[in-house]
Amino acid sequence: MASLFMVSSCKVFLVLILVSYSLFLDVKSNEFDVGDDEGWVVPPSKNEQMYNKWASHNRFQVNDTVRFKYKKDSVMVVSESDYDKCHSTQPIFFSNNGDTEITLDHSGLFYFISGVSGHCEKGQKMIIKVLEEPKNDSPPSNQNGTSSSPDQNGAVAMAGFPALTLAQFILSVIGLFFV
Ligand SMILES: *[C@@H]1O[C@H](CO)[C@@H](O)[C@H](O)[C@H]1NC(C)=O
Ligand SMILES: *[C@@H]1O[C@H](CO)[C@@H](O)[C@H](O)[C@H]1NC(C)=O
Repeated sequence: MASLFMVSSCKVFLVLILVSYSLFLDVKSNEFDVGDDEGWVVPPSKNEQMYNKWASHNRFQVNDTVRFKYKKDSVMVVSESDYDKCHSTQPIFFSNNGDTEITLDHSGLFYFISGVSGHCEKGQKMIIKVLEEPKNDSPPSNQNGTSSSPDQNGAVAMAGFPALTLAQFILSVIGLFFV
């Protein structure tokens, strides 16, 4: 009886570990608050590049989200040329609800501007570069230094590490109960 109980609680324990492990793997996308505490505002005149500076301090990956918080303003995703000219007539995406979350659903460049007249010209605009998806299961075919960033290599190493320790852990738990 006692050993039966131990085996089943061991199973429950293993299931719990597996569930939390897969949750851990799924929590790969991050949410970024644009402009941190400042939010999405017209930058001060001495800091027109405020949003591109903010973006350059962060590292964006596919499926990360960026959150824009603002009052009496709006946010648009636009083309590169509309970004350059601050054209707000043909947005790819538009929102003015004050709290807008946008998923960066592909790699490459995203162009954001304020849709309020004059705000983009004063620097309320931002380019976000979303990195290529790291391929965890197959190493990049082009191994030459410049193209594979150290960050990506780090991510691959990190992904491999917990899988190994999990397997070792399960083996040792099973071993404990069946000795
Ligand atoms: C991003 O999310 C979509 C939909 O949830 C999913 O199909 C896709 O595989 C995800 N991409 C990455 C790189 O996580
Ligand atoms: C990688 O670098 C080596 C030596 O510098 C060069 O011969 C090779 O063509 C490069 N391969 C690629 C895919 O760039």
